[in-house]
Amino acid sequence: MDQDALKKAAAEAALAFVEDGMMVGVGTGSTVNHFIAALAARRFDLAGTVSSSEASAARLRAAGIPVLELNATDGCDVYVDGADEVTGALAMIKGGGGALTREKIVAQASRRFVCIADASKLVERLGKFPLPVEVIPMARSLVGRALVGLGGRPVLREGVVTDNGNLILDVHGLDIADPAGLESEINQLPGVVTNGIFARRPADVLLLAAPGGVRRLDRP
Ligand code: 5RP
Repeated sequence: MDQDALKKAAAEAALAFVEDGMMVGVGTGSTVNHFIAALAARRFDLAGTVSSSEASAARLRAAGIPVLELNATDGCDVYVDGADEVTGALAMIKGGGGALTREKIVAQASRRFVCIADASKLVERLGKFPLPVEVIPMARSLVGRALVGLGGRPVLREGVVTDNGNLILDVHGLDIADPAGLESEINQLPGVVTNGIFARRPADVLLLAAPGGVRRLDRP
């Protein structure tokens, strides 16, 4: 089974967490694209969806699924999204697709967060995947120097402007022994919009697809 087939298996397993009448938060990325296709095929009678990116919103609308502004809802019943890395405690690095800020907002506004991933995403310790940090353009160098001070090697993601009009620094080489602590520390830097550590609001459920099937892990 190739990685894309595993992503599809994890995405389809997430349908078990969706019911008619729900407000569903929808993340961003290739795994979530499978989820959107599966959601469309099942024709749920949803209250609506809230998207973490313009790209997912366009896919949802193209599939005939209503997309609402988060402000027009009282949050989501469930949020389904992928990850770049995830630990057994269900802390994650996200933002490989550049949508980390809206992902963190929708995750925070959701009563349940279901992470969908292929088994290659499961790690003992976060940090091999470069940590995405969304920064306000004028603070790019200031934040970059501060990230070097924290032991990282920030690299500007060339040619990328986020849905919020900002830049992404991908930070290599960080030692993420304390995910929640580092998440807070980086978010305190003036000019940082948010960073891709999701430890303060981790996933509640991880659906991890391996060739032998989809395994469910609940947050300890
Ligand atoms: C986008 C994300 C994605 O969830 C993450 O990059 C995983 O992507 P994929 O499902 O394509 O492997 O955080 O900002």
